[in-house]
Amino acid sequence: MTPDLIARLRDDLFAADYTAVTVESLWGADAASALRRGQREPARRAVATTTVPAGVLATVFVLGFAVPTARLEEALPAVGVDGAVELGLVRLDGDSAEPLLDLRPHAFVDALGAGSWWIASDLGEVALRRAIPENHVLGVGGASLTLAGLTVGSKADSVLDLGTGCGIQALHAARYAKRVVATDISGRALELAKLNAALNGVSTIEFRSGSLYEPVAGERFDRIVSNPPFVITPRGEGVPAYEYRDGGLVGDALVASVISDAAQHLAPGGVAQLLGNWEYRDGDDAFARVAGWLENTGLDAWIVEREVQDAALYAETWIRDGGILPRTDEFDALYSAWLDDFADRGVTSIGFGYVTLRRPAQGAPTLRRLERLHGGLGNNPAGLGVHVSATLAAHDAQQGLTDAALAATALVVAADVTEERHYWPGDEDPTVMDLRQGGGFGRSYPLGTALAAVVGACDGDLALGAICAAVAQLLEVDEGELLAEVLPSVRELVVTGFLAL
Ligand SMILES: C[S@@+](CC[C@H](N)C(=O)[O-])C[C@H]1O[C@@H](n2cnc3c(N)ncnc32)[C@H](O)[C@@H]1O
Repeated sequence: MTPDLIARLRDDLFAADYTAVTVESLWGADAASALRRGQREPARRAVATTTVPAGVLATVFVLGFAVPTARLEEALPAVGVDGAVELGLVRLDGDSAEPLLDLRPHAFVDALGAGSWWIASDLGEVALRRAIPENHVLGVGGASLTLAGLTVGSKADSVLDLGTGCGIQALHAARYAKRVVATDISGRALELAKLNAALNGVSTIEFRSGSLYEPVAGERFDRIVSNPPFVITPRGEGVPAYEYRDGGLVGDALVASVISDAAQHLAPGGVAQLLGNWEYRDGDDAFARVAGWLENTGLDAWIVEREVQDAALYAETWIRDGGILPRTDEFDALYSAWLDDFADRGVTSIGFGYVTLRRPAQGAPTLRRLERLHGGLGNNPAGLGVHVSATLAAHDAQQGLTDAALAATALVVAADVTEERHYWPGDEDPTVMDLRQGGGFGRSYPLGTALAAVVGACDGDLALGAICAAVAQLLEVDEGELLAEVLPSVRELVVTGFLAL
């Protein structure tokens, strides 16, 4: 590490106004969309003759083109081209400077507000013009953003980021935690993550090398975050084992061990959040296997499956992700290896989802939700983490109330909730009624007549029991029976954020 050079690079990036907004404004929204689809030509054309420093930097470090050395020197006056060479960002070839790393601005909004970083990672397929190597260190990808958005961002003393890669989760954690430990088996990833921490002026992350929980043996954390190498990959000759996505174990065993062993590394009340894949084998429900991983952990668990892919689609997706093009011999050979591997274990499909685990502050676990929410999410401007945090708190709050205590409590409908009613044409009464959640997971919840009336009256004034009594009178049914009928739904609506206590 060369702190002085990194500080000078930071000065240059600031001076160049090398931000996500500036870069996108230089090549425009359409070119930015094309780039997200893996096509750099529209962006190249837009900045081909630019001498604006941010444009030159984006040409080299985002698009992956060589530029005249003199032009890069102008864009990096403090660190200079020599400094950029020393930092491993570029190499010189005659009069031109070629990128060795991707270095791009990353803008974000999380629970603590808006911010931006510069993130260095390995050059991707678009810049390399070939498949990525097995030791590729990933930049900020879709899964990184998903996990970062999902993370509970309230203050914590210590956070473990298992499999830090370029360090993106550790950087987020450093915003809300006093101390972060970031681990990886890849020395190259750790070097890049260190560079990124230094470049962004973050000094509270400790980097450790090793597999899974090995580097933190005997230690406990308030939070664990992990976007682990969860991609299910066949083992064998000729099948690339990409460090960034493949933990080297068979099937979904790596995710199983990250989940099962989290218990030994969470402090009381601590929360672990990770992304994972799970196999559906021989037509069995994958959740039965996931429940097995949780057995004897003593952890609260909330698993949300977001998507299921059949085995063939899964294989295609991940072979292509490595930069192997379809309709080539290499692709077909890998496809066959993938399908053989799935056939060996009777895997028919693979689930993908979000895992939230919590070590109860005291006593036994009370939360065990395994659910499938495959639709679109609600609107969560600061990420889903705020909702996850509220869900855990709401679960605990209602769990602490007996039915009688809940009946004595006034509830209020959350601000993002609307009611949908569907009518047969000409009918006065609705045939279908649903509650709709605008934020969070964008859930819907079916309403019967009694529950609709009860929820409709929850404005925080009257206790739930009093509302039920009034509704029972209106519907001419037994008050106790109505209360008993709606209570389980009310608890569910509280946990999922439709109703607030
Ligand atoms: C999918 S990347 C996630 C990177 C980053 N945390 C993010 O969210 O973008 C997974 C990371 O786990 C690392 N890794 C692979 N096998 C590992 C293992 N057995 N123990 C710890 N980390 C591992 C990889 O090197 C890679 O950096």
